[in-house]
Amino acid sequence: MAQNWTPNSWRQKPIQQVPDFPDMAALASAEAQLATYPPLVFAGEARRLKSQLANVADGKGFLLQGGDCAESFAEHGADTIRDFFRAFLQMAVVLTFGAQQPVVKVGRIAGQFAKPRSSNIERQGDVELPSYRGDIINGIEFTEKARIPDPERQIMAYRQSAATLNLLRAFAMGGYANLENVHQWMLGFVKESPQAERYRKLANRISETMDFMKAIGITSENHPSLRETDFFTSHEALLLGYEQALTRVDSTSGDWYATSGHMIWVGDRTRQADHAHIEYCRGIKNPLGLKCGPSLTGDGLIELIDILNPSNEAGRLTLICRFGHDKVAENLPRLIRAVEKEGRKVVWSCDPMHGNTITLNNYKTRPFERILSEVESFFQIHRAEGTHPGGIHIEMTGNDVTECTGGARALSGADLGDRYHTHCDPRLNADQALELAFLLAERMKGGRDEKRMVVNG
Ligand code: PEP
Ligand code: CO
Repeated sequence: MAQNWTPNSWRQKPIQQVPDFPDMAALASAEAQLATYPPLVFAGEARRLKSQLANVADGKGFLLQGGDCAESFAEHGADTIRDFFRAFLQMAVVLTFGAQQPVVKVGRIAGQFAKPRSSNIERQGDVELPSYRGDIINGIEFTEKARIPDPERQIMAYRQSAATLNLLRAFAMGGYANLENVHQWMLGFVKESPQAERYRKLANRISETMDFMKAIGITSENHPSLRETDFFTSHEALLLGYEQALTRVDSTSGDWYATSGHMIWVGDRTRQADHAHIEYCRGIKNPLGLKCGPSLTGDGLIELIDILNPSNEAGRLTLICRFGHDKVAENLPRLIRAVEKEGRKVVWSCDPMHGNTITLNNYKTRPFERILSEVESFFQIHRAEGTHPGGIHIEMTGNDVTECTGGARALSGADLGDRYHTHCDPRLNADQALELAFLLAERMKGGRDEKRMVVNG
């Protein structure tokens, strides 16, 4: 029988990936301060996302989740947020066309600051320092001082999340996402790329449809769904003191919610069933993500599902699979079969980033063709198993960075140094992200045609 849950019951459990805060009193005081601050999101919004994800679990939608690997204090400009939003909307439009289904839009944004690390130490030459753990914990500069975990950073991360969320809400609801603007979302540097022509053609079709609808009286003025969109936030629930401080009771339902973001997920390094991160997540009612890497067994997954979603509520749990292009075929089918055998309702999402990281010319990078290959395998395997390939989870930016190799512009290892800006893992630039969306849309269209053939044949 499960023990009683409280927002701090995780503190009794073993825990991975905890920063070494030198001043525990300062940490407690920052957490106490955060606990008095307003929630960033509301329970009703998290429920709305959950119900949209329930449709995805049911095969009637597609989840697009993406954003920075790690947000940073240094790059908190309006242009960066706007350009991310534009690139994301473009992907969503392409996918909506491909899937002919609603696309649920969830950013890795407005709270995605804390990073799990594979080593506690970073070495440069003869110098060893504690690893960078994300701007919410310490600084990225390779100096002793910057690497000391500083609790004040949590207050800064909270304030940055609030400001980012404010702008995102304005973009989503204030007219920027109006489908009449579908041509304007194109970013300057993407205009020169091979994706531009494809996108323009699609945007023209949407504009034509909008003109037709206007002629029969359906306009963005009288139909909010044409001018507004639901956009949700998400991040890894890694820094549990911060999460606890923002855990609040919803006055409508009496349930506990994480109010740091709409959806939170548990990382591949912190998903031990009897440890702190799973303990925290089981008690809050938000939609949850669970990263599934190669070391997860079918039984291990069912055990985690039992803890995180005991009532088998659709939309509660998204399994974010991140195996690597060469490991997905070996690992995904057994997880799907375990879940199907037990009749568990989940959203299957593919993270083709985290299993495909390599080092090239001293840069961490990800070859675009491996990212594509993992996504393709993910789709094929779900088709073969008769399950719904429900979403993708990617690291991307609206900026013209050179962090992942390949893509239509064929970025090479030698190009990586040009604009390598990420604070953690390499991201797709807007061009590569759009290319991925077009390829996905083709797969989804292929899947629909196949289904039709089966039905008609
Ligand atoms: C991440 O999503 O940035 C991450 C660290 O992923 P994972 O837990 O899957 O390694
Ligand atoms: Co990452």
